[in-house]
Amino acid sequence: MKFKKKILCIGAGYVGGPSMAIIAYKCPDCRITVVDTNPNRIDAWNSEDLPVYEPGLDKIVKKTRGKNLFFAKDIENQIKENDIIFVSVNTPTKTYGAGADMAADLQYWEKTARQIMKHSRSSKIVIEKSTLPVKTALAMEKILASAKGKIKFDVLSNPEFMAEGTAVSDLENPDRVLIGSHETKSGLKARAELIGIYARWVPLEKIITSNIWSSELSKLVANAFLAQRVSSINSISALCEKTDADISEVAKAVGMDSRIGDKFLKAGIGFGGSCFKKDILNLVYLCSYYGLQEVAAYWESVVKINEYQQERFMANILNSMFSTLAGKKICILGFSFKADTGDTRESPAIYISQKLLAEHAEVIISDPKALKNAAIDLAGIKGTVKYIEDPYRAAAGCHALVILTDWDLYQKLDFQKIYSSMVKPAFLFDGRNIIDHKKCFAIGFNVYPIGKPALSHFKN
Ligand code: NAD
Ligand code: UGA
Repeated sequence: MKFKKKILCIGAGYVGGPSMAIIAYKCPDCRITVVDTNPNRIDAWNSEDLPVYEPGLDKIVKKTRGKNLFFAKDIENQIKENDIIFVSVNTPTKTYGAGADMAADLQYWEKTARQIMKHSRSSKIVIEKSTLPVKTALAMEKILASAKGKIKFDVLSNPEFMAEGTAVSDLENPDRVLIGSHETKSGLKARAELIGIYARWVPLEKIITSNIWSSELSKLVANAFLAQRVSSINSISALCEKTDADISEVAKAVGMDSRIGDKFLKAGIGFGGSCFKKDILNLVYLCSYYGLQEVAAYWESVVKINEYQQERFMANILNSMFSTLAGKKICILGFSFKADTGDTRESPAIYISQKLLAEHAEVIISDPKALKNAAIDLAGIKGTVKYIEDPYRAAAGCHALVILTDWDLYQKLDFQKIYSSMVKPAFLFDGRNIIDHKKCFAIGFNVYPIGKPALSHFKN
């Protein structure tokens, strides 16, 4: 079959894989190829066991793979072959040199730019899908401009707003698609080309355009605003615990104001995931770089509150369990950073597990999708850790349950059965406020929610 467009995506991760699968699904007359420097990832995308767990993704990959969606290893050849190139490589926080622990590490990004420049034999549209500091497209353009001959590159910014766990529905029905371009003749032509792809399934009024720098900055700001809401509600949860107010009631009352809205007001053990912290720190670094120290400090406090929330939660476990955890068995329910994903990057569960082990507790971890990643995250840490998928077997013989991920299945557990199998007095720390606290208290648990009064059977 002759395809109308030949599209490449460099980077087959949580964004590259799902976003290209949806383009392939919605545009059967386009050929999409996804490449990666990690051959194991490509093998996994070509297998029955995809490297990313996302509800609904396996069905879409099955329908398109081998027809118009391909996962390949020959990066150089694919750069030559394709006309439109999405770049969705990782952009983690820098761990060395200037800007360490703050700025984005752009080494993978720059390598990709150089690779595109070196192996291109015809003009191309290059699209930033990774999240990047403002003005990164300028660096990309400078590198690409050094290509020999008549080859021309148009660089567009098209940040991705999907969330993990809901990637398929977010990609199929996005709130908006943002495309940043130069207002030059060729910039506008490239922009029209990309709009043409999204317009196959996204209503035109949801496809918005801007200059490249606004587009790059909007992505960082969207994540910063979302994370700020989580930190705002978590900061108030601390006050609730001191005043007998209930954070769910406060969030409901506040969120019903249509100017505020009710989303992202769930108090918990703090946000995780590969992006919120990294993107805010990136924003903080940019503000400091431009001499805006007050603005930098404002956004940095969002990350500080997130760390405080996790420290507070851990201190509560230790204090409630008579200030010693040595030799006690603690069952962690949920290790992924949110429900419906196996991703554990920056998951608060990593911090909590490390602290529990440092107190010499024995940790039993249960999760329906994240046990493989949990074992990688905790490898080499001193102490006893067990990984048991079945929550009932994991909890048996434990002193405490600690809920760290909002998986639906934890709401449906038979807590009477679990209580009967645990050491008494049994403790339950609900880091997500997802279970029926009163019912568990009535069963016999000492229950410690977030931002609500504890329900304890102990007399003061
Ligand atoms: P990821 O680590 O899952 O995937 C990135 C992939 O790029 C890896 O498989 C890596 O091997 C590959 N790679 C790195 N350098 C390469 C090169 N030179 N050539 C080919 N492949 C290369 O990362 P991710 O979660 O998919 O995130 C990618 C980008 O998208 C980041 O900038 C992130 O901030 C952004 N983003 C992520 C999400 C999300 O939900 N994870 C959502 C929106 C935006
Ligand atoms: C987030 C954004 O929602 C996406 O729009 C963005 O594209 C993505 O980051 C990215 O750039 O990587 P994601 O991190 O996958 O998506 O998941 P979220 O649903 O945003 O949750 C982030 C964290 O906040 C999770 O740990 C979640 O449990 C926590 N959270 C979220 C709360 O604690 N309370 C809430 O009310 C909402």
